[in-house]
Amino acid sequence: MRIVLLGPPGAGKGTQARRLADSSGMKHLSTGDMLRAEVASSTDLGLIAKSFMNKGDLVPDSNIIEMILQHIDHPAGVLLDGFPRTIVQAEALDQVLDRAGLPVDRVVHMTVEVDEIIRRLADRAVCEDCQRPYSQQSDSPSLAGICDDCGGMVTIRNDDKPKAVANRMATYQKLTTLVLDYYRARGDVVEIVATGTQDEVFAKLSRAIESGVSSN
Ligand code: AP5
Ligand code: MG
Repeated sequence: MRIVLLGPPGAGKGTQARRLADSSGMKHLSTGDMLRAEVASSTDLGLIAKSFMNKGDLVPDSNIIEMILQHIDHPAGVLLDGFPRTIVQAEALDQVLDRAGLPVDRVVHMTVEVDEIIRRLADRAVCEDCQRPYSQQSDSPSLAGICDDCGGMVTIRNDDKPKAVANRMATYQKLTTLVLDYYRARGDVVEIVATGTQDEVFAKLSRAIESGVSSN
């Protein structure tokens, strides 16, 4: 299966994709996580990506397409989190899948109100290594700044600062909603309101994927 999770920053794409990958065995492909790993290792791509990411701008399509498309044809199926984000990326994905004779099975649009997004991102800290999110208010690591799962450093993402968050949301509205329209025109999109507990969102997402049922 190939599943695309679309939604604004902070919608819970990463949280839910990790959970779904654990329960289904599918491969979670997050372009954001891949890029943060490139930045941490100071690769050529990481050096290019860093300034775009810190401001909340998109990394150029050519870099993204080259980075991700080699992983698309995974035997266990893929959960795409944060890709495609532009029409150029969506068309590149279609080309690769068409050549392989593979469809996009579901596109799930996760919506969350702006106030809740701002609250979530202001509260988030994240492990630089395994990307596990923490809440600064209610779910800190047992040892300050050290990930309970992998011992990596838990920090605040540069792009979770208010100015970058505003830019990420504006970029989403300007470019990624066009991707939503692209898939809607094909009748591929299932809608879920991604608020409530993480368990509740997971139940909605599972229903959306299995049966194509939208949920409020
Ligand atoms: P990326 O890492 O993809 O960031 P994003 O899309 O802005 O999304 P986030 O990761 O912030 O949010 P999320 O939806 O994954 O939510 P999460 O589960 O973490 O991209 C970062 C940057 O990389 C981009 O700005 C761009 O520069 C570049 N980039 C990436 N892909 C690219 C592409 N394709 N093209 C070009 N550039 C690209 O949850 C958020 C918080 O909410 C967490 O703290 C979580 O614990 C909490 N939370 C989750 N669910 C709930 C719930 N139900 N209730 C309460 N809190 C919740
Ligand atoms: Mg994410």
